[in-house]
Amino acid sequence: MPNLIPYTTADGSQSFRNTVFDEMYHTKSGAREEAFEKHARPLRVWEKENPIIYDVCFGLGYNAAAAIDLIRQNGNDSLITVYIFENDPEILDKILEINVAFDCFATIKDFIGKCIDAEQEFFEYFYAQENIKFIMFLGDARKTILNAKDLADFVFFDPFSPTHHPEMWELDFIKDIYSKMNVGGKLTTYSYARKVRETFAAAGFTVTAGPVIGRISPSTIALKEA
Ligand SMILES: C[S@@+](CC[C@H](N)C(=O)[O-])C[C@H]1O[C@@H](n2cnc3c(N)ncnc32)[C@H](O)[C@@H]1O
Repeated sequence: MPNLIPYTTADGSQSFRNTVFDEMYHTKSGAREEAFEKHARPLRVWEKENPIIYDVCFGLGYNAAAAIDLIRQNGNDSLITVYIFENDPEILDKILEINVAFDCFATIKDFIGKCIDAEQEFFEYFYAQENIKFIMFLGDARKTILNAKDLADFVFFDPFSPTHHPEMWELDFIKDIYSKMNVGGKLTTYSYARKVRETFAAAGFTVTAGPVIGRISPSTIALKEA
């Protein structure tokens, strides 16, 4: 049986189920909608000049894609730097096979194709015309995140669930993420479980509720205030 089973979410965008983790990559209510409404829009990513984005657990890259689209659609033409943290080449391969209605998806596809060709765990490329720099760290984000050169303004934190992948939600990793963010930096994650909120608060974040999209409970927005 393949590890990745495709399915189409309710907004028409493609997603997958991972049979190893027994987890969906996105909510069934809409993968593309989730990226915009749960992650990129609540952080108002377009308001920052030269934003540095960490997409932690990049998967198909929808969260970064939504952020790039919103930044450009709101007239912000400054340099966007996107750090990609992902450990599974198989899901990156899938990006080359799908089409999703993000303005920047062709650029993301091009970058992922270059990464695959390069066969390197670290790879960066600057798209001059789009004024976007992508930096790939292929490997365990809990280790590679400390190697990022720039501190993040925005973090999309999107691992599999705390139930099925608890090590990604441990305090030490969340503290490392906090240490790699600029003061004023903001993070989103889909879980609003009490333990998750407590861990983020223990790492130093100010934790607030995000929007309710495709689930009963809200998402989490975590701020680095000092
Ligand atoms: C819920 S999916 C992310 C969905 C993604 N944000 C998207 O838009 O498609 C979780 C992702 O975390 C990745 N992952 C799991 N363990 C990881 C690790 N230790 N380091 C980096 N990525 C990891 C998985 O391969 C998977 O792509």
